[in-house]
Amino acid sequence: MRKFAKIVKKPPGPNARRVVNMAEKYVSPSISRFYPLVVESAHGSLVRDVDGNQYIDFASGIAVLSTGSTHKEVVDAIKTQAEKFIHFSYTDFYYENLVKLASELTRITPGKFEKMVYFGNSGAEAIEAALKLSRVHTRRVLFLAHTGAFHGRTMGALSLTASKPIQRKGAFPMLPEVVHFPFPYCYRCPWKQTYPECDYYCIDYFKEQFLDKYVPAEDVAAYFFEPLQGEGGYVVPPPQYFKKMEFLREYGILFVADEIQTGMCRTGKFFAVEHFGIEPDIIAIAKGIASGMPLSAIVAKSDIMKSWKPGQHASTFGANPVAVQAALATLEVIKKEKLLQNAKKMGELAMKVLNEFKSRYEIVGDVRGYGLFIGVEIVKNKKTKERGINETNEIIVKCFERGLVLISAGLNTLRIIPPLNITKEELVEGLDILEGVLAEVNKKST
Ligand SMILES: Cc1ncc(COP(=O)(O)O)c(C=O)c1O
Repeated sequence: MRKFAKIVKKPPGPNARRVVNMAEKYVSPSISRFYPLVVESAHGSLVRDVDGNQYIDFASGIAVLSTGSTHKEVVDAIKTQAEKFIHFSYTDFYYENLVKLASELTRITPGKFEKMVYFGNSGAEAIEAALKLSRVHTRRVLFLAHTGAFHGRTMGALSLTASKPIQRKGAFPMLPEVVHFPFPYCYRCPWKQTYPECDYYCIDYFKEQFLDKYVPAEDVAAYFFEPLQGEGGYVVPPPQYFKKMEFLREYGILFVADEIQTGMCRTGKFFAVEHFGIEPDIIAIAKGIASGMPLSAIVAKSDIMKSWKPGQHASTFGANPVAVQAALATLEVIKKEKLLQNAKKMGELAMKVLNEFKSRYEIVGDVRGYGLFIGVEIVKNKKTKERGINETNEIIVKCFERGLVLISAGLNTLRIIPPLNITKEELVEGLDILEGVLAEVNKKST
């Protein structure tokens, strides 16, 4: 008998069916969903659907629900602020909580230099702001980004995104002058090398084939990177990668860390770049910042942020006061409830259990991550590493049918990204459901 996951009516039940049918009629088909979870309510790391089933949440609204669903302090903060004022627009007016949050963000982001903050609403908006600010500051045109990267879906951000062709299909031309080069995906090294013997051949390749051949470094405004690739497959670079890439700074190229998915303690540090010992010039933050309220920010060195002048960039809904109050409450809860430490501790436990799965099941090819940002790559065969795309989809659907909310990344990687305050009991039960499904799919496919 499970304590948290309770399937009382095989999903999709009648209520879920009704909602899904309406969505098919009225909601853009560009949204892709793997299974019909229709949420009725969610608290902490548990979710109920409209037919009375209860699930453990290993997706947290795609790494958004840092303090879990409806944390009391976050809800109270939202209610209190909503009763005072819901919107006034920081494009023309001031309010105190936004300056408080700006000052907090400059404090928690890496780098002991002076910083300033620009607020938007979504991750893509933060990336758009970072693109524009980099050009305004450097007066240069080119951008560097990685294959496998995901930076958003608006046209500027999409021009940096290179994780799935469908995201760009039919939407060309992109923003010109974005140069993509391979991310260090060691499990599937494009050069068939092995770390550490490779001695970072990927960087030599980048220098020889890009910088020495056709990309004049002096014309590059900024290098955009996810410290750990998210949507592209939960890919973890080798430890010295970004430090070694810092040679780019000698050319005046800005380092823009997209911490939209990895930030806000998700990886067991406040920001994932801290694992790599680098201090970016601009950091993009969204997702986990406000426990589900729409808010994003870029935090930049002050001299960079001061390059743009009044009127040069703004957003009507940016720094919405209710979202800002939720962000302040999120930071408070992170501190009070030691969520950074919990992410680390639960992450270590999950990694240990998942690595045991790897030794038991042929289809578990690779387990990687930091904190509660973990990818489990599914393959057909450990030796050939053939991608287990159908297997991944089957695992996700089967987990759902047994009470575990799980999503994938890339083509064949499971993401383990529960709320940062998931309890040990919830985590263990979720992993147990996953193991049951892995065993079944493994048996069928090997
Ligand atoms: C690393 C990264 N950057 C940017 C984005 C885009 O954020 P949004 O969907 O809020 O526009 C995402 C969203 O998944 C992301 O993971």
